[in-house]
Amino acid sequence: MDKKGVGITITQHLLMEERQNPEATGAFTYLLNELIVAAKVISWEVNKAGLGDILGSTGEINVQQERVQKLDVFSNRVIIERMQHIGQLCCMGSEEVAELIDIPSQYPKGNYILLFDPLDGSSNIDVNVSIGTIFGIYRKVSDETDVDFLLTDALQPGIKQVAAGYFIYGSSTIMVYTTGNGVNGFTLYPSVGEFLLSHENIRIPEKGKIYSLNEGNYQYWDEDTKALVDYFKQKDKTTGRPYTSRYVGSLVADFHRNLLKGGIFMYPADLKDPKKPTGKLRLMVEANPLAMVVREAGGYASDGKGPILEIQPTDLHQRVPLYIGSKEDVETAEAFLSGERRV
Ligand code: AHG
Ligand code: MN
Ligand code: MN
Repeated sequence: MDKKGVGITITQHLLMEERQNPEATGAFTYLLNELIVAAKVISWEVNKAGLGDILGSTGEINVQQERVQKLDVFSNRVIIERMQHIGQLCCMGSEEVAELIDIPSQYPKGNYILLFDPLDGSSNIDVNVSIGTIFGIYRKVSDETDVDFLLTDALQPGIKQVAAGYFIYGSSTIMVYTTGNGVNGFTLYPSVGEFLLSHENIRIPEKGKIYSLNEGNYQYWDEDTKALVDYFKQKDKTTGRPYTSRYVGSLVADFHRNLLKGGIFMYPADLKDPKKPTGKLRLMVEANPLAMVVREAGGYASDGKGPILEIQPTDLHQRVPLYIGSKEDVETAEAFLSGERRV
């Protein structure tokens, strides 16, 4: 698509992509369209945050041992209710739900699996910092239909995703997605209620000038991780250092900025919580979808040792260290974390 594509609706864009695939049945376009409707509902509710009784915690702790916000619950429910009846999914997986989510028996089942983080960055809801929804879609590989036997289908490596992306509820609401054919961004035009193409064929710079991480965890990192972060802060004209530090604490927002501007987002493994020795972020609903997006935009995502997309998952809620962004910067991180490079 050339620049003339800017301004077309997401629906037109999905249909154009569908036409380029001779095997497409329309099922996938239908699925994404419904997800977009769910995101519009969430976006509307998020925009009202501050009014009424939708801010704050529910008082519950989720499967991740984290405090559940009312908007987490709302977004989770909107996506499940919207997606369960469309006949394209065999099950779903959510950050907020311990087990795979079944499709109620009154609805038809399909061949796709939707994994999602309904609301990312929820600790930022109350303070008007951007938050989002992250999703990855897989095709079922077995002939199983019973949710009790679908875990293996849901636990495919990220490389098997057929589509992935995110919605960011920020100064505007933006959807960024890929089906393995480049990355495009669409901005919600509120008065029309449509997502229009605004960021065509996004490419992340090979090397950036931004590093993003929660540096308050410094004392909990191993020596290689400390050396890596020290490296980005050192002065060296030829490599453009020191880098600038940018971190708001919503993965979608930190990722989106670095996708457009270049740089590296890091959430290293730390020794802060013995229950989470491998970092904080979730492989299936956070790392894998963004890893597919960044790869399609020319970037790279690593767990510090190798590609995120090649990790064989063992648990729906497993956590991974995450280094994601400009290819050269993520490769620098790998070199430090393997101990091969020192400041
Ligand atoms: P979620 O709101 O879905 O639980 O995710 C929160 C995540 C992610 O958005 C962000 O990158 C990270 O938590 C921030 O963690 P710290 O507060 O430890 O920096
Ligand atoms: Mn999240
Ligand atoms: Mn979340």
